Amino acid sequence: MSAEHAAIGGDTRTALADRIQSRAARIGVIGLGYVGLPLAVEFARNGFDVTGFDVDTRKTGDINAGHSYIPDVLASDLHDALASKKLRATSDMSTLGSMDVIDICVPTPLRKTKDPDLSYVVKAVETTAAVLRKGQLIILESTTYPGTTDEVVKPILEANGLKAGRDFYLAFSPERVDPGNPTYQTKNIPKVVGGMDEISTDVAAAFYRQVVDTVVTVTSTRAAEMVKLLENTFRAVNIGMANELALMCHRMGIDVWEVIDAAKTKPFGFMPFYPGPGLGGHCIPIDPFYLSWKAKQFNFEARFIELAGQVNASMPEHVVTRVAEALNAHKKPMNGSRVHVLGVAYKRDIDDVRESPALDVIELLMRRGATVTYSDPFVPEIDHGPHQMKAVSMDSAIKAGADCAVIVTDHKSFDYPSIVASFPLIVDTRNALKGVKSDKIFGL
Ligand SMILES: NC(=O)c1ccc[n+]([C@@H]2O[C@H](COP(=O)([O-])OP(=O)(O)OC[C@H]3O[C@@H](n4cnc5c(N)ncnc54)[C@H](O)[C@@H]3O)[C@@H](O)[C@H]2O)c1
Repeated sequence: MSAEHAAIGGDTRTALADRIQSRAARIGVIGLGYVGLPLAVEFARNGFDVTGFDVDTRKTGDINAGHSYIPDVLASDLHDALASKKLRATSDMSTLGSMDVIDICVPTPLRKTKDPDLSYVVKAVETTAAVLRKGQLIILESTTYPGTTDEVVKPILEANGLKAGRDFYLAFSPERVDPGNPTYQTKNIPKVVGGMDEISTDVAAAFYRQVVDTVVTVTSTRAAEMVKLLENTFRAVNIGMANELALMCHRMGIDVWEVIDAAKTKPFGFMPFYPGPGLGGHCIPIDPFYLSWKAKQFNFEARFIELAGQVNASMPEHVVTRVAEALNAHKKPMNGSRVHVLGVAYKRDIDDVRESPALDVIELLMRRGATVTYSDPFVPEIDHGPHQMKAVSMDSAIKAGADCAVIVTDHKSFDYPSIVASFPLIVDTRNALKGVKSDKIFGL
């Protein structure tokens, strides 16, 4: 590596940094999901030669055919990237070694025991280690516990004799993408970067500066890993508090939404978080447990995380209790009633059902004997373990004699006046029917 380092204009720069600056660097992105595909397209749009690697041949086939399966990636952007021959996707890892930068964006789920499942990261890093050569920059973007890059990634990469910091650069940079957010996307979400040494931080920061408006550097991979977990734990804990407040307000006969709306008029020292049917998605329900798991190794109990996890996980059960209470008002038992779930994606206007509380709500309703159907304009079918269902139209659910609707996800395109007019009972877990007064509407 030392030959690569050269002092240019007083700054420590590297041959790789120059290749990045001149757009000559070849970029490899491993994992073309919600995180990897937008990133790959953004670099290709900015003139880099990008190869996306994914073990899922359906995804690589879709990309090469110009079909974007990630709503935030516009088909036109994908087409432009393909037409300019700056982007291609493959499941063949043999060209990985020719990449100058390898950016790893694979899943980091939890095991059933709530322990981190780093198997995807380990596999991707092993694949990288097999082709690693001098002068490459390896970046991990997958959300994970502090220490992963140093304790898990680095030893695998170094197994064949090359040394991080001497022979190749190694950094962690958490992804902050917010699927479905029209305002903040890859370019204008500041990117945090922490390398395993100063030069790795510099090169990785130079890499992201090519496509991201603001790059924030921290002094270690551990700090960068912790930044992401702070952000997501902050949300999980505050949502947990909003959910607990909702349960409390329900007991006290107070409208929790009215309270939050009024509280948020305070111009300082308050930030609104909202209750709901439970947490969903690949991040908020999972990431904090990466942190609490790691904290246990230091004999530290992350109490806020565990408590918020308990409150948030109890929300689907509460929603089902509210459905039972609504049906009870019509002298109907849950067993044998028809319940129609509106929205199964984990949040508004996206198609992602990973960890969606709707799946728990559906399962709990079924366990109590309800006949369950669902509508979701973004999710035509659910195929997650025990849940294999096809969406039906709201009209057909009404014609089939639905006894109660549950708004689990407040998609903008739902016809809310028609929902209020057509269903005999509605449980609204999102305050989607704010301001509508009717005996048949039950809140959280
Ligand atoms: N989705 C989000 O909103 C979001 C936001 C911020 C951070 N993250 C984090 O980013 C990471 C990726 O999340 P995602 O939502 O993009 O996941 P995803 O499931 O949408 O995509 C991951 C992709 O990696 C592929 N893959 C798995 N193992 C592979 C391997 N060994 N080689 C090549 N490809 C492989 C999968 O086939 C899949 O296409 C996770 O750590 C997640 O926590 C996600």
